[in-house]
Amino acid sequence: MKEVKKAVIPVAGFGTRFLPATKATPKEMMPIVDKPIIQYIVEEAVASGIETIIFVTGRHKRAIEDHFDYSPELEYSLMKSGKEEYVEIIRQISDMADFVFIRQKEQLGLGHAVLTAEPLVGDEPFAVLLGDELIINEEKPGISQLIEVYQKFGKSVLGTTEVSKEETNKYGIVDGNLIEEGIRLVNYLVEKPDPSEAPSTSAIIGRYILTPNIFESLKKTPFGKGGELQLTDALMNLRGKEAIYSKDIEGVRHDTGNKLGYIKAIIDFALEREDTRDFVKDLILQKADQLKGS
Ligand code: UTP
Repeated sequence: MKEVKKAVIPVAGFGTRFLPATKATPKEMMPIVDKPIIQYIVEEAVASGIETIIFVTGRHKRAIEDHFDYSPELEYSLMKSGKEEYVEIIRQISDMADFVFIRQKEQLGLGHAVLTAEPLVGDEPFAVLLGDELIINEEKPGISQLIEVYQKFGKSVLGTTEVSKEETNKYGIVDGNLIEEGIRLVNYLVEKPDPSEAPSTSAIIGRYILTPNIFESLKKTPFGKGGELQLTDALMNLRGKEAIYSKDIEGVRHDTGNKLGYIKAIIDFALEREDTRDFVKDLILQKADQLKGS
């Protein structure tokens, strides 16, 4: 069985929910305290054994390329001003993996973004990590949990979590038979179903291991919801040819693609970090008192 060594990270979306911040800056570069969201995602992939990161980018995404490149001028300037500790921090970002970039010329959906990466993936299983979902699990990074299931069955694996019935219209929803704790053999998939039609509350949360057969399925899949080529629809087609599994991912999840999820992620991280914890805790308590009084 081929090992999973490549990860596709689609970052070509417009990020309209964060306008005007995303007019010229990728939403994936927005920081959680002082580290861009995309760096957390790359770190998760690298900690799971991924060696090559394939970014599917679009216009206005140059900052992502620069972030994962060397920055000799900055390093020189930091050395000169005695801030050596930062030199190591910024250099190790570029040394984490091999980074390759391909442009999605038109934003035709997540499925189309994955298909764009085909020439760089080739005939290998690969991981997909969405550029706006953070999954924090220090012991077992999110995507490594899916790789483990792939190693057992040799088929595609979708990362899932339970959501409330009302939220099913925000996710790809999976129906399947439980075969082991947290692992299902998928029967049916549907993109953003109305709660009244959702077959389950098991939602795909931006982590996938895919076999290369997904590319043929994507090519045969018609444009679906929102006029976009939906990865979920292509997976449903693939399901007719080979088994697909889902795995409930263990860890703390942050959907940083919307404002409220982003704010929550910053507060959670700031409360975890030693250098920010006390300040943020006091601030929250102070604000809570003020709000009680008002
Ligand atoms: P989203 O729909 O959440 O991201 O796509 P978006 O389009 O950037 O955000 P909004 O809805 O306009 O605020 C999920 C992921 O898929 C990528 C996005 O960059 C994001 O990481 N994507 C989406 C692409 O790469 N290409 C596409 O055509 C669509």
